[in-house]
Amino acid sequence: MAIAVLAFVVLRAAVVPHSFGQYGHYRGDAIAEIAARPVAFAGHDVCESCHTDIVDQKKQGRHVVVPCEACHGALAKHADDPASVTPAKLDTAILCARCHEANSAKPKTFPQVATADHSGGLACDTCHQPHRPKIDTKVEPKPTTEAKK
Ligand code: HEC
Ligand code: HEC
Ligand code: HEC
Ligand code: HEC
Repeated sequence: MAIAVLAFVVLRAAVVPHSFGQYGHYRGDAIAEIAARPVAFAGHDVCESCHTDIVDQKKQGRHVVVPCEACHGALAKHADDPASVTPAKLDTAILCARCHEANSAKPKTFPQVATADHSGGLACDTCHQPHRPKIDTKVEPKPTTEAKK
């Protein structure tokens, strides 16, 4: 019994990192290590300071609540140096379905479609302007003209 307890104490001292428990039930050094990593997301305020035209477009529709990087991905590098880091083109068939694929677990009020039936195999941005997705069928009788704008 005594040997088992001794082995436990010695092994524990050997394997538990020294900063464990400094602040709580985790490694205290982890905070400094994570803080030292490069920032990946710029935040929508930063994007909006340059892309004011997109902000105006976004304000006209319900995508006003969706931040830029939720769709475009982490772009801090582009925000720091727009001339040399060009954001990748997005594939709307994957992107839009990620949020809008119909699912009975989603609130009924959330706009959702069975994408395969709804789009007929076309890319979503053939008809929807991604930043202002509402197609007003009264103003724009032919949705396909929207994509050319
Ligand atoms: C300092 C100003 C500046 C900031 C901040 C900035 N951009 Fe840009 N962005 C530009 C410029 C300039 C271009 C055009 C580059 C070109 O045409 O080659 C551009 C182009 C783009 C493009 C289009 C790329 C293409 O296909 O032509 C996207 C998408 C984009 N930015 C998204 C973002 C997002 C999202 C953010 C926030 C994380 C952001 N930008 C922050 C200046 C900025
Ligand atoms: C709902 C998803 C979504 C959101 C939110 C979004 N974008 Fe986009 N954006 C797209 C898609 C899709 C395209 C077209 C495909 C591409 O160029 O990659 C696009 C294209 C662009 C372009 C290039 C073409 C153009 O219209 O000038 C810029 C610049 C851009 N977005 C910037 C932004 C900025 C800045 C924000 C935040 C204010 C933002 N986007 C928010 C999905 C989005
Ligand atoms: C990150 C999640 C997200 C992505 C990606 C996304 N959307 Fe949305 N979309 C939303 C939210 C949130 C709303 C607003 C829902 C609300 O107001 O309750 C919305 C609303 C809409 C609406 C309803 C507009 C209206 O005024 O009735 C359409 C249409 C739409 N999105 C199409 C698209 C298309 C097309 C794409 C791809 C370019 C896309 N969405 C990508 C989250 C997303
Ligand atoms: C052939 C044109 C076309 C294509 C392609 C298309 N849509 Fe639509 N979509 C429409 C029209 C028209 C409406 C009805 C008008 C509106 O609500 O904006 C609509 C409505 C919607 C709505 C709102 C549904 C609601 O209950 O309010 C969502 C979400 C949507 N589309 C998502 C998508 C997604 C995701 C894709 C790509 C997989 C896509 N659409 C491709 C034409 C299209």
